[in-house]
Amino acid sequence: MSTNPGRQLKKYHISKRASQLSPSGIRKFFDLLASMDDVISLGVGEPDYTTPWHIREAAIESLEKGYTMYTSNMGMPELRQELSRYINSKYGIQYDPDTELLITVGVSEALDLAMRATINAGDEVIMPDPCYVAYQPSVILAEGIPVTVPTYEENNFEISAERIEHQITDKTRAILIGYPANPTGAVLSHDKLEQIAEVARRHHLMVVSDEIYAALVYGVKHTCIAALPEMKANTILLGGFSKAFAMTGWRVGYAAAPREIITAMTRVHQYTMMCAPTMGQVAALEALKAGEESAAEMVEDYNRRRLVIIKGLRDAGLSCSEPKGAFYAFPSIKSTGMTSEEFANRLLTEEKVAVVPGSAFGQCGEGYVRCCYATSLADIEEALSRIKRFITKYRRRK
Ligand SMILES: Cc1ncc(COP(=O)(O)O)c(C=O)c1O
Repeated sequence: MSTNPGRQLKKYHISKRASQLSPSGIRKFFDLLASMDDVISLGVGEPDYTTPWHIREAAIESLEKGYTMYTSNMGMPELRQELSRYINSKYGIQYDPDTELLITVGVSEALDLAMRATINAGDEVIMPDPCYVAYQPSVILAEGIPVTVPTYEENNFEISAERIEHQITDKTRAILIGYPANPTGAVLSHDKLEQIAEVARRHHLMVVSDEIYAALVYGVKHTCIAALPEMKANTILLGGFSKAFAMTGWRVGYAAAPREIITAMTRVHQYTMMCAPTMGQVAALEALKAGEESAAEMVEDYNRRRLVIIKGLRDAGLSCSEPKGAFYAFPSIKSTGMTSEEFANRLLTEEKVAVVPGSAFGQCGEGYVRCCYATSLADIEEALSRIKRFITKYRRRK
C-alpha cells in the first residue's frame, strides 16, 4: 500500500466542472492571514455586528418550542408573506408569496439555482469585471460561459448598457449584475439601470440582479431593476439577510421571479437543499417584521466609517473613487508600482493589515485592493495609519 499522499490523490476522479474552478483569491489570502497574530483585517466582507438580539431571541424561542423540522421546500409561508410585503414596500413590486418567492440558503444558493434553472451548456451570461467572486463559478457550474464587461475607476466602476450590448451574441441568455457592488461599492443610478433594462428588453434577455447590498446605500437612492417598466417579467431578483441584518451565519436568502422560473428553481432546490434552515427562517421573519430600525442604525455607522476610510486612503496618497454602497472601498494602488497581490502580501507581512487583492475579482481589479470597512472605527483608523506608513516607506525606496 502506498503511503505517499500525493500518489493517493491521483486515483480520485475529479469532474471537469470542479477542476475548472480556480480557488477563490480571497480564500488563499485568508489561509495566510489565519496563521498570523494581531492582524487588522479589512479583508472579510461581513458585518462586524452580531445579529440584533431580538432576532436571535426569536430563533432561540423557536428552538425552545421545538421548531426543528423541515419547512416547506419554498420556505415558511409566513416568511414568504412577510417578504412579499417587504419587497413591495421597498420597491413597489408585488410578488405572489405562493408562486413567485423562494427562500434559499443565502444569496449563494439563490444565485446557483438561478443559473442552473435557466442556463444550458454553452449559453453566455454577461457580467461586470471586477465582480463578486462567485459570479463566474455559478455560470461555469451550470456549464454556461461567463462573458465579462470591463468597468473602470474613471466611471466609478459602473457597468454601461452600451458595453453590455457590445458583448451580446446569439448565445447570450442573461445579464448578471450586483449593485451596490462587491468589491467596488459602485451603485447604478435609475437612468443607468433603465438603459440596461432597455437593452435586456430589446434582446429578450433575463437580468439576474443580486440585491444583497440594496439596503446599504449612502446619500443615494437604490433602484431595483425589477421595478422598471416590464422588468418584473424579465428579472430574477436575488436578495438576502446576511449583510443588511448582520446574519451571515444563519444562511438565509431568497429569489423573487416569475412563477415559471421559481418553479424551475424550486425543482433544483428541493433535491439539493430541501429547504433553508428552519431556525434561520424564523430569524429572517423577525428581521423583516422588526429589524429595520437596527439595520438603519448599522447603515449610519457604516457611513461614518466609509467617510473615514475614503479620506484616510486619499490622505495616504491612493486614488479612490467614492463607494456609494455596500461596505467596501476599492483604492488604486497603481502608483506604488506593485501588483495588487504583491501589495496585499507585503502590507500583511510588513504592517499586519489585511486587504484583498483586486485581481481576485477579475482582470479589471488588477491595480486595486478591496478594503472592507465593516469593522470598528478604531481598527480602521489604526489600519489607515499603517497603510500610510507602508506607502510612505515604499515611495521613499522607489
Ligand atoms: C455580492 C454578493 N452576493 C452574494 C453574497 C453571498 O451572500 P449570502 O451570505 O446571502 O450567501 C455575497 C457575500 O459576500 C456578496 O458579496
